[in-house]
Amino acid sequence: MTASHGEHLTNLTLSVWRQKGPDAAGAFESYRIDSISDEASFLEMLDVLNEKLIDEGRDAVTFDHDCREGICGSCSLMIDGQAHGPQRGTATCQLHMRKFKSGANIVIEPWRATSFPIIKDLMVDRSAFDRIIESGGYITSQTGGAPDANLIPVPKPVADAAMDAAECIGCGACVAACPNGAANLFTAAKVAHLNLLPQGQAERHARAESMVETMDEYFGSCTNHGECEAACPKEISIDVIALMNKDYRKAKFANRKEIARS
Ligand code: FES
Repeated sequence: MTASHGEHLTNLTLSVWRQKGPDAAGAFESYRIDSISDEASFLEMLDVLNEKLIDEGRDAVTFDHDCREGICGSCSLMIDGQAHGPQRGTATCQLHMRKFKSGANIVIEPWRATSFPIIKDLMVDRSAFDRIIESGGYITSQTGGAPDANLIPVPKPVADAAMDAAECIGCGACVAACPNGAANLFTAAKVAHLNLLPQGQAERHARAESMVETMDEYFGSCTNHGECEAACPKEISIDVIALMNKDYRKAKFANRKEIARS
């Protein structure tokens, strides 16, 4: 049973991965939290731990965070072996201590993925995602000022699918949860939200080819485990991967024809 609303959890043990730098050996260290409100967020609980460590003259635990409201994708923790912890559709910063119970031993690790090397403690380097976006996750035409919303009609199901894909916050949970360390859900979400909309059509084939091939340089291959969808804090469907694969196949034909013509 988890704690009920408004209670305090007591006697928590945190097993936290500590690593001084990218090349240093890491190890778990145990810390005790005597009492914490079940209304505290998981990151607030780590703030409490860090205040305690600083008071004791010890090194605070390094972890990524920014918006703390599920928007930026910075927070990135494996909690008891699950990316973002035990609550589905929830980023670490939105997870509350009421999901745990008094006396629990909570294991906290950084994202587990070769493509996301550890910088320090719980913070990893996710710049491999930036390489994918740089390779095609944009539109190059001049967009000018915001046009009237009805200037380019977009069917509602298409707009909905594009906006669902655009919910991706780039946190990397999909990669961390995947046994192959694949980034297909992330890449497919970024491809889909542009390739579905009229504004994305001019570069559709070039985008699909370039982003998939950049993804392949840095990440493992997708074998349809589906762990990515289960871990995604925005619950993005793996259907976008099918769409990306279809666009990639079409791109290989279309781009080949363009090369032959040139
Ligand atoms: S801190 Fe921004 S999504 Fe969690």
